[in-house]
Amino acid sequence: MAERRESIHGQWSGRWAFILAATGSAVGLGNIWKFPYITGENGGGAFVLVYLLCIAIIGIPIMVAEVMLGRRGRRSPINTMRHLAFEERASRFWQYLGWAGVVAGFLILSYYAVIAGWAVAYIFRTASGAFTGATADGVSSIFSELIADPERLLAWHTIFMVITLVVVARGVRSGLEVAVRYLMPTLFVILLVLVGYAMNTGHFAEGVSFLFSPDFHALFYQLDKNGVEQLTSEPVLIALGHAFFTLSLGMGAIMVYGSYLPKGTSIIKTSVVIAAMDTLVALLAGLAIFPIVFANGLEASSGPGLIFQTLPIAFGHMPAGSFFGSLFFVLLAFAAWSSAISLIEPAVAWLVENHGFSRISATSWIGLGTWLLGIGTIFSFNIWSGEEYQLFGKTFFDLLDYLTANIMLPLGGLLIAVFAGWQMRRTACQDELGINDGLIFRGWYFLLRYISPVAVVIVFLNAIGLLTF
Ligand code: TRP
Repeated sequence: MAERRESIHGQWSGRWAFILAATGSAVGLGNIWKFPYITGENGGGAFVLVYLLCIAIIGIPIMVAEVMLGRRGRRSPINTMRHLAFEERASRFWQYLGWAGVVAGFLILSYYAVIAGWAVAYIFRTASGAFTGATADGVSSIFSELIADPERLLAWHTIFMVITLVVVARGVRSGLEVAVRYLMPTLFVILLVLVGYAMNTGHFAEGVSFLFSPDFHALFYQLDKNGVEQLTSEPVLIALGHAFFTLSLGMGAIMVYGSYLPKGTSIIKTSVVIAAMDTLVALLAGLAIFPIVFANGLEASSGPGLIFQTLPIAFGHMPAGSFFGSLFFVLLAFAAWSSAISLIEPAVAWLVENHGFSRISATSWIGLGTWLLGIGTIFSFNIWSGEEYQLFGKTFFDLLDYLTANIMLPLGGLLIAVFAGWQMRRTACQDELGINDGLIFRGWYFLLRYISPVAVVIVFLNAIGLLTF
């Protein structure tokens, strides 16, 4: 029987549809919410530099590999890995890579949806004019009130989950393509408007220098609980983890999108384009936020609330701020939504393929589970925020984020690199990428086989203290 070369879940309508969907997956809370606050927590420029390096030499090569595996397998990540392992005569254990990804996606979505809920809440807050003329203190207290109230958080979390699930249940293609095509560019324009505002705060240069002049002391020495400086390499792991998180790598999201990609599309070119757009959005968000931080005497290291405590100040003081502000949060919620979809698609595709679920029931069950787990994240900001509810000084939310972004995703990425670089035949890679053994192929292959896996292993060993520089 000739091999079926199309996924049973359908195909993208073409190269652009894939670029849009993958960009929709990559660009999300990671860029606009997480990147600025972890940059602030880890000292700025040097952290950004490490992050950019991770994107270039680890993220992009692994992204190419992940899309390539997806398109070759044409199934959900679990079945793709099972099938490719068989085809390449590799161990059956490779299918667990798919499994780990399904679990990681599930865990990430549980807290992702809670934060996305904050963005939804802010649409209405901003529209109501609550921030008009507000001071930094006023803006901060509106945020504190929101996260102190588990019921409100639960309501917004639920709303976001339901919207996401409805789209996933209908199949990824309907709606997503059109939405990304128009809303992403609008988000981009609003970010530019915000950067324009930041330029007029009088502290733009300070923001730029915070983001782009590397201060390695600030990266490697962090204050502990008692305010004493401690040498640590953890920020490097966080930068690496974020490179995976922001590009949606290491758990099969990009693999499953790759499986809907028609043959003949250049995987390398599209991956570079997607990574570049993703990085640009993150840097713009940083450029918009840090000048506001400095102009208002705020703390760059104030944590997950950073964008909610800074951007409303800008909206409160610009002409038509309520309008731009609510539009911004609509677009942020939308960007989160197009990312969330890719977090549960691998699990849904697998239930449909292997257990005969309809898309609707697969989505409902997984959605119910994620929604329930999300309650743990909600409580992390209020009734479980105390030290008696923490483990290693981290709340439930911090732990989930750490486990997924800094451990599971880099580990998944490492295994993807090892499989594509060492288990798959070189000719199979060339065939799937559709290129010959030229400079580009060799450069990618070298990065994938040697540089990315070794770098991930070094950062890991270093972070757990087995290797110290
Ligand atoms: N990349 C998205 C963001 O930056 C989040 C995301 C979507 C993701 N799908 C993923 C992260 C898969 C890791 C794996 O917001």
